[in-house]
Amino acid sequence: MTAKRVKKAVIPAAGLGTRFLPATKAMPKEMLPIVDKPTIQYIIEEAVESGIEDILIVTGKGKRAIEDHFDSVPELEQTLIEKGKSEFLKLVEETTNINIHFIRQSKPMGLGHAVLQAKAFVGDEPFVVMLGDDIVQSEIPCTKQLIDQYYKTERSIIGVQPVLSDVTHRYGIVDPKETLENGLHKVESFVEKPAPGTEPSNLAILGRYLFSPQIFNFLETQVPGSGGEIQLTDAITRLNEVEHVFAYEFTGKRYDVGEKLGFIRTTIEFALNRPDLEKEVLVILKELITNYEGRTIYR
Ligand code: G1P
Repeated sequence: MTAKRVKKAVIPAAGLGTRFLPATKAMPKEMLPIVDKPTIQYIIEEAVESGIEDILIVTGKGKRAIEDHFDSVPELEQTLIEKGKSEFLKLVEETTNINIHFIRQSKPMGLGHAVLQAKAFVGDEPFVVMLGDDIVQSEIPCTKQLIDQYYKTERSIIGVQPVLSDVTHRYGIVDPKETLENGLHKVESFVEKPAPGTEPSNLAILGRYLFSPQIFNFLETQVPGSGGEIQLTDAITRLNEVEHVFAYEFTGKRYDVGEKLGFIRTTIEFALNRPDLEKEVLVILKELITNYEGRTIYR
């Protein structure tokens, strides 16, 4: 049997973004920029670089700006053409040539419920789920790494990396049963946000999943778990009981843009990685550090 090609991605983007209030009062958190690009665009780029052809974004109320961002803007494009600003025109146009579809999650009932909204879009094919709070920088795109593993195993694969033990309670954690080769693990169970000290390992689910369509059978009957929400992690545990779900330690550096400190760090690191900004950002950082002790606080 040859594995079906993985062509579809689902990006849940219905969360309220309360950690970034008041910025997210009228603007989706997925549109907060890292330097000059909305966070969700980094995710879409990873999908496209991984060979994904169709993307479904699961949105909710107040998320119209995401749809607008991936639509064309004829007046803006015309103005840029007239002014000869071709490099800006390229930036505006590059987000409009991708097959992006939208569906709404009418009630915020959890990540598992958000993914369930993709059932009709996915049909009978393997697909990936990419969370917008996790940006991964790697030589081979993280999603492509999972897809490559899928072609070998033909089983659902969950992307994991070790995290420090004092933060395991913020993630879905895997309980590995057997390590096969190069970072591929068979898994005993998956635990959503274990209480501190009860985590079965420090291997955390970091926002990249590849699923067989069987996952929907479990999402449809999934009862609420951690936080009273329908948890994707709980449905994965049940799927694992009927067909092995593997955990794969992907390579690359993962940035958490879903909380303030991670967001600030990502902004600084990404700015330092930009040839057009690197030198000046470094000067600013050095200046800030030098003057920090005697800093002026504006109130
Ligand atoms: C979600 C998942 C969790 C995963 C995390 C990765 O949690 O439920 O299993 O480890 O994303 O970012 P959230 O951060 O939405 O609470």
